[in-house]
Amino acid sequence: MKIVTIIGARPQFIKAIALSSRIAVTPGIEEFLVHTGQHYDANMSEVFFRDLGLRQPGARLDLGGGSHGQMTGRQLEAVENVILTERPDICLVYGDTNSTLAGALAASKLHVPVAHVEAGLRSFNRRMPEEINRVLTDHVSDWLFAPTQVAVDNLAAEGIASEKVHLTGDVMYDVARLILDDPSRSTNIACRLDLPEMGYAVTTLHRQENTDDPARLLAILEGLADVAETMPVVLPIHPRTRKITASHPEAMAALGRLTVIEPVGFFDMATLLSGARLALTDSGGLQKEAFFFRVPCVTLRDETEWVELVELGWNRLPEAITRDAIGAAVADALAAPPGLDASPYGSGEASRIILDALTA
Ligand code: UD1
Repeated sequence: MKIVTIIGARPQFIKAIALSSRIAVTPGIEEFLVHTGQHYDANMSEVFFRDLGLRQPGARLDLGGGSHGQMTGRQLEAVENVILTERPDICLVYGDTNSTLAGALAASKLHVPVAHVEAGLRSFNRRMPEEINRVLTDHVSDWLFAPTQVAVDNLAAEGIASEKVHLTGDVMYDVARLILDDPSRSTNIACRLDLPEMGYAVTTLHRQENTDDPARLLAILEGLADVAETMPVVLPIHPRTRKITASHPEAMAALGRLTVIEPVGFFDMATLLSGARLALTDSGGLQKEAFFFRVPCVTLRDETEWVELVELGWNRLPEAITRDAIGAAVADALAAPPGLDASPYGSGEASRIILDALTA
C-alpha cells in the first residue's frame, strides 16, 4: 500500500510525526511525503524535521505565499502532478490549512481515497479560511479521523456517513507524550530567556482574523502588554504577525513590552509551555498543548473548536476581543482553581488507531 501525505504548514509537521514514524516501521506500507512549501522559513519548517526526526519529503513544491486562491490553486495543480506520478492508494491530509484542502481536492478528483486526520473540527465561523478548508476537506474524505466526540457529532450533524468516521483521539497528544514521558528532552530555553520558574506567560498570535484587523490586533497586543506588567510574556512571533505589526507604530509599541523571540522548535515550545503560569493564544494546537501540560489558557478568539477545554475549565474565551475583556479573562484564569482532570483527546494512541483503520 502506498500513501501520499501532504504537509506544508508548521502544525502539520508536528501532527505528521506520530503516524509517519509508525508507518516507517510497518511492513507493506510506503509513505511518500509532499511538502507544499506553505511554510518555508527554517524556523517554521526545517526545525521540525530536525527536532522530531521527520523524514525528508519526497517532493518539495515550494508554493508558499500569495493570496488564498493563488496558494491553494498552485498547490492543487502541483499536488495533482505528484499524485499522477506516484499513483498512491491513499492521500493523507492533516488539519485545516490551504495545503490540506489542495491535497484533498487534488486526490478526490483523481478518485484517490482521502484520509483526513483532525476531521470534524468546527468553529462555525465561515469567515475563517480554516473553517472553509475543514468543511470542504471533510466532505471529500473517505476516512475521517476525528480527535474528539464533539468532532464526531459535528460530522454526523452534516450528514457524513458514520462508517467513514473514526474516533481516534488527537495525534497531538501522541506527540506531546514524547516530552511528557521523557522530560529529559526539555531544553534550557527558560534559562536562556531568564524567565522566573512558573512566573511567566507564553503567547502566540497569527490568525488572520486577529492580525488583519488593526484595531483588533492593537487591542490584543495592549491586553498582552498589560499582562506583561505583572509577569514576562514570551511571544515567539509568527512571520505574519511580524510583517503586519512592522507598519503599525502603536502595535510596535505594545509589542516592545513583550519578550519577543523568533519562532521556536517543538521541544523549545513544549518546554516553555510546561513551565508557564499561563498561555494566551489564537492557535488551536497551543490550546491543547497547554492542557497537556496543565497550564491554564486564554484563547484570543471569539470561539474555539476545542470546546471541551472550556467546559473542563482549562480554557477561557474573553467576552470580547478588547483590551479590558482580555484582562478580565486573564484575571479569572489566574484566580480560578485548576480545571477538571479528564482525557478528552484519547490515550496517546491516535496514530495506532488511524493506522489500524487504514490497513483493516
Ligand atoms: C497557516 C494556516 C493556519 C495555521 C498556521 C500555522 C491556512 C489558511 N492557514 O496560517 O490554519 O494555523 O498556518 O502557522 O492555511 N510566511 C513567512 N514564512 C513562513 C511562512 C509564512 O514569511 O515560513 C508568511 C507568508 O508569506 C504570509 C504569512 O507569513 O505572508 C502567512 O503565512 P500563511 O501560510 O499564509 O498562513 P499562516 O498565517 O501561517
